[in-house]
Amino acid sequence: MSLLILAGSSRQASLNGKLQKRIAEVAERDGRACYVYPAAELDAPIYNGDYEDENGVPSNIQKLATAISEATKIVIVTPEYNSSVPPLLKNAIDWTTRLEQNPWVGKNVLLAGASPGRIGAMRAMTHLMVIMAAIKSYVAPMFLSCAQASDDTIASFDAEQIKGFLKQGD
Ligand code: FNR
Repeated sequence: MSLLILAGSSRQASLNGKLQKRIAEVAERDGRACYVYPAAELDAPIYNGDYEDENGVPSNIQKLATAISEATKIVIVTPEYNSSVPPLLKNAIDWTTRLEQNPWVGKNVLLAGASPGRIGAMRAMTHLMVIMAAIKSYVAPMFLSCAQASDDTIASFDAEQIKGFLKQGD
C-alpha cells in the first residue's frame, strides 16, 4: 500500500508540514511507502470558471490528482483558519474535482491537523470531513489532532494511532 500525505500550509516553518513529516516517520517505521506531498505544489489560482474555460485545470493540480488516484490511502493534515479549512487546501481540492474523473471517489482518507490553540484544528477537520464526504471519499472515523502544537509537541506526537488506519484492508 502507498500512503499519500497532503498538508495545507506551504509556510516554511509550518507546524502542519512538521506533523506531515512526523506521520510519515511513523508510517515508514510501520513499513509503509509514503509520499510526503510538497504543500507548495497545491498552489493554484483561486478557482474561477472563466479561468478554467480559458486555461483548463492547472498542470500542478493534474499532477496532484494523479497522486491521489495512485495512492491506496491518504492523510490530509489541515491547519485551522477561523475555524475552517485554509484556502490553499480548499482551492486545490475544488480544482481536483473539475477534472473529468474525480480522483477522490472511494478513497480512504484520514484527517489530521495541528494548531497552537487548545482545540488542535478540530473545527477545520470537522469542516473538511463534510467536504470529503461531498466528493465521495471515505473519511476515517477518527481525527489525528495535535493541540498546543510546537516543534516539541509535534516531535513527541502520538502518531502511532495512525497504525489502525494503515492496517484496515491489509
Ligand atoms: C489562524 N490560526 C488559528 N488557529 C486555531 O486554532 N483556530 C483558528 O480558528 C485559527 N484561525 C486563524 C486564522 C488565520 C487567518 C491564521 C493565519 C491563523 C492560527 C494557526 O493555527 C497557526 O497560524 C498555525 O501555525 C497555522 O498552521 P501552519 O502554517 O503552522 O501549518
